[in-house]
Amino acid sequence: MTMAGTRADTAHPGIGQDGAPAPVPIADDVHWIGALDPQLRRFDLILRTANGTTYNAYAVRGRDGVAVVDTVKAEFAEPFFARLEQVARYDEIRVIVLNHLEPDHSGALPELMRRAPQARLIISKRAPAMLKALLKADDEEIRYETVDTGHEIDLGGRRLKFLHTPFLHWPDTQCTYLVEEQVLFSGDVFGCHHCDRRLFNDRVGDFRFAFEYYYAHIMRPFKAHVLDALRLIEPLPLKLIAPTHGPILRERPRRYVARYRELSGGAALEPMPVDSAPLRTLLIFYLSAYGSTARMAEAICAGAETVHSVRVSLYDLDGGESEPFVDLIEAADALALGSPTVNGDAVKPVWDLLSSLAVVNLRGKVGAAFGSYGWSGEAVPMIEDRLRGLKLRVPLPGLRLKLIPTDAELADCRDFGRRLARALVGDAASGSGNGQAARGVIDFAELG
Ligand code: FEO
Repeated sequence: MTMAGTRADTAHPGIGQDGAPAPVPIADDVHWIGALDPQLRRFDLILRTANGTTYNAYAVRGRDGVAVVDTVKAEFAEPFFARLEQVARYDEIRVIVLNHLEPDHSGALPELMRRAPQARLIISKRAPAMLKALLKADDEEIRYETVDTGHEIDLGGRRLKFLHTPFLHWPDTQCTYLVEEQVLFSGDVFGCHHCDRRLFNDRVGDFRFAFEYYYAHIMRPFKAHVLDALRLIEPLPLKLIAPTHGPILRERPRRYVARYRELSGGAALEPMPVDSAPLRTLLIFYLSAYGSTARMAEAICAGAETVHSVRVSLYDLDGGESEPFVDLIEAADALALGSPTVNGDAVKPVWDLLSSLAVVNLRGKVGAAFGSYGWSGEAVPMIEDRLRGLKLRVPLPGLRLKLIPTDAELADCRDFGRRLARALVGDAASGSGNGQAARGVIDFAELG
């Protein structure tokens, strides 16, 4: 898990030196061309997010031209167009599909229409009024076509079929299905606010709580409409679900469909198992006053990611609810906590999280502390003491850096992350861990 705009990451394919991913192929001649917003901590004022969100948009190429499916929030138009230009010329764009007109997906639409004036704009049958309001234009000034369930556009060997799925999450919403590749561009449906540049559900950090949280706040009020949508989606062969927020669901996408049915049908809630079965899971939480501890956290995360059998997740304590974090920690193998030192102490949200862990059996998990400080840096040893008091093992001395980390100190952070992850792998090899990895395998297998 990494943050865009804060450091370049060459550890993953498709990521450029500017810190932003290049267009990412998700299927044959289909690319992710969206944008990352890792700094966002509140979405639509009400939703919290511990590591930002993504605005996913896609380009589909057929023999006869290109379709752009959704755009991005206006502030992120520049990287969106930069990525689009790497996979298509504007005069090749035949179709622009807007599955949902909320500004986080339509922000770049007016400029895209200006750059590709020949393109047909495709929206759902419930969307015209919203489109006119968005573009501040009358009917005769905008060229658009409305579609309904069953309508189809052929790009030349590539057919886009439309599914009318109103109220998910606005009245205008629809999904678009790419028949030949069995890809569902699902809009907000099956999305979540979780920013991880590795993009795919089998590669990102643990986003289960973000998926559930998103459903609870965005989809749950419209359960009946969710069930209507599922009746259209469930019969489709599905290789991949490409939502407009969060991870692209390529590993066992049908599980997420099943989870929506379960949540919408009122069945008993069981946590979704992780998508793959990593040997060890490391969670990194941090709080940062001026960004220094955040940079440390990102560097530690980057270092830990280099140990392939460890799955790393990074969360800003300022952006999340603590209750899901407790569940995540209970299921994880290691916990690293970062805090600046303020008035000779760690900051309150860190203590709040630690105190909420008193009800969890943490014995045998690995703990670590880190943080930036100005004068004396008491926070790190205080957190380490508390971690030991909670029966975690603390194999590495805590990492403290004075004020703003230098490049050399960030290299130390990456090394710290690497060593922490290796300590976890060592646990796995010796069989002295807490057994979470084995449980993950069983969950995975049981679901078939
Ligand atoms: Fe992501 Fe409802 O917009």
